[in-house]
Amino acid sequence: MASLVAILDVKGKSLIQRSYRDDVPTSYVERFIPLVLDMEEENVTVQPCFSDEGINYMHIRHNNLYLLAMSKRNSNAAEIILFLHRLVSVLTEYFKEVEEESIRDNFVIIYELLDEMMDFGFPQTTESKILQEYITQESHKLEVQVRPPMAVTNAVSWRSEGIRYRKNEVFLDVVESVNMLVNASGNVIRSEILGAVKMKCYLSGMPELRLGLNDKVMFESTGRSARGKSIEMEDVKFHQCVRLSRFENDRTISFIPPDGEFELMSYRLSTPVKPLVWVEASVESYRGSRVEYMVKVRGQFKRRSTANNVEIYVPVPGDADSPKFRAATGSVVYAPEKSCFIWKIKQLGGGKDYLMRAHFGLPSVAGEDLDKRAPISVKFEIPYFTTSGIQVRYLKIVDRSGYTALPWVRYITTAGDDYVLRTISDSKSSSIIAPL
Ligand SMILES: *[C@@H]1O[C@H](CO)[C@@H](O)[C@H](O)[C@H]1NC(C)=O
Repeated sequence: MASLVAILDVKGKSLIQRSYRDDVPTSYVERFIPLVLDMEEENVTVQPCFSDEGINYMHIRHNNLYLLAMSKRNSNAAEIILFLHRLVSVLTEYFKEVEEESIRDNFVIIYELLDEMMDFGFPQTTESKILQEYITQESHKLEVQVRPPMAVTNAVSWRSEGIRYRKNEVFLDVVESVNMLVNASGNVIRSEILGAVKMKCYLSGMPELRLGLNDKVMFESTGRSARGKSIEMEDVKFHQCVRLSRFENDRTISFIPPDGEFELMSYRLSTPVKPLVWVEASVESYRGSRVEYMVKVRGQFKRRSTANNVEIYVPVPGDADSPKFRAATGSVVYAPEKSCFIWKIKQLGGGKDYLMRAHFGLPSVAGEDLDKRAPISVKFEIPYFTTSGIQVRYLKIVDRSGYTALPWVRYITTAGDDYVLRTISDSKSSSIIAPL
C-alpha cells in the first residue's frame, strides 16, 4: 500500500504527485533525491526500496524520471514496484514517450490515471485496456465516465461522517509569495509567483463545495486560450478531494472538503513581475576608517494598498562596527552575525518612498570584491492583494441538511524566501546619494 505516488525529474523535483493517505507529508518527496545522493556518495548500491526515518521509499527509474511511491506502514514492496512498472506501461500506451515533457503536457490525464489506478493507496485497475474505457483522450479532451456513487465505494477517505458544528464557517486564504532577482542595473532577471489556496472548513455533515475562480485563470494543461491578459498557471497541484473531471468540464473546483485545515491547491506562475517593494542602496566606503550607506525604499503598488512588516536586509562588510542609523521611518538594527543591518518598517504605503542612512566604522583596508557583494533581500506582506490577479468569484456550500454557511475570503501577497535585489552601487555612480 502506498500513501503517495510521485513522478520526479532527474533533479528530484516533483512533476506530479498524488497523495492517497495523509500519513506521509508531501514534503517528504523532496527528501528522496538527497537520500539517493548520500548513498551514491558512500558507494552504497541504491536499492529500489529503502527506509529513512520510518518512511519507506520505493522507486524505479524510467528515461530521465523517477517514479516514487512512499508509505509509512509495512507495505508489500514487490506489489508497489510492480505497480510503478505498470504505471510506466500505461503512460507509455497513452503518450508513447514517457519523459518530463509528456508528463508536463498531460497533467490532468495523469492525475486521473493515478486516481483510477489506486484507491486509498491500494493498487486498482492497472490494465490499460480497462482504463481506456474510463479515461479517453479525444482531441486533447478528457472524458471520464460517471463513477459509482460515493456511497457504494465509501470513497471519502479524507472525511468522516457525523461531523457537527454549531456555527458553520469556511475560511479561504489565497496566499502568493513572490521570488525575484533584480540585477545591479535594476532589471528583473527572474521572477516567479508561488500560490496556494488554503482552507479552514468548520462544516457539518458531508457538504459539497464549489469554488469558482475568475475567468482570467488558465491552467496550462487545458490548452485553452483567453482573450486579453490571462493568468497562466503551471505546476498546479490539487488536494485529493478535488474532482478533476468536473474541473475540466466547467473550470469549477468541486469537492467534499476534509475537516479543518488543508491546502486545496497550489500553483506557480513564471510571468514577469515588477518589484512590489523596490530598494536601492548606495555605498561610500573609506577603507580603514568608515563606510556610509544611503538606502531608499519605494512601495510600487496601488496607493490604497499597504505593505506590512517590511524588513530590508542590507549587507555590510563583516568587520564593520560602531553602527549609527538615521531613518525617516521605521527602526534599524545591526545584525553582525548576518553581516547586515535590517531596516524594519511596520507599514509602507503604495507609491510612498523613504530614505535611511547608516554609518559604520571599518577597520579593514582590504578592498571588497564588488561582484561577490551579497544582494539586498526584502521581506513584506501585502494584504487584500494578489500579484497574479487570481480572484475567488464564488464558493458555494451545499449540504443535504440545508444549512447556510458564510465563506470568508482573504488575499495576501508576501515576499518569498528569495526576493533579492543587487541594486547596491558605489556612491560615485549613483544618483540617489545626497551629501552627508
Ligand atoms: C542587467 O540585465 C539587463 C537585461 O538583461 C542587462 O542588459 C544588463 O547589462 C544587466 N546589468 C548588469 C550590471 O549585469
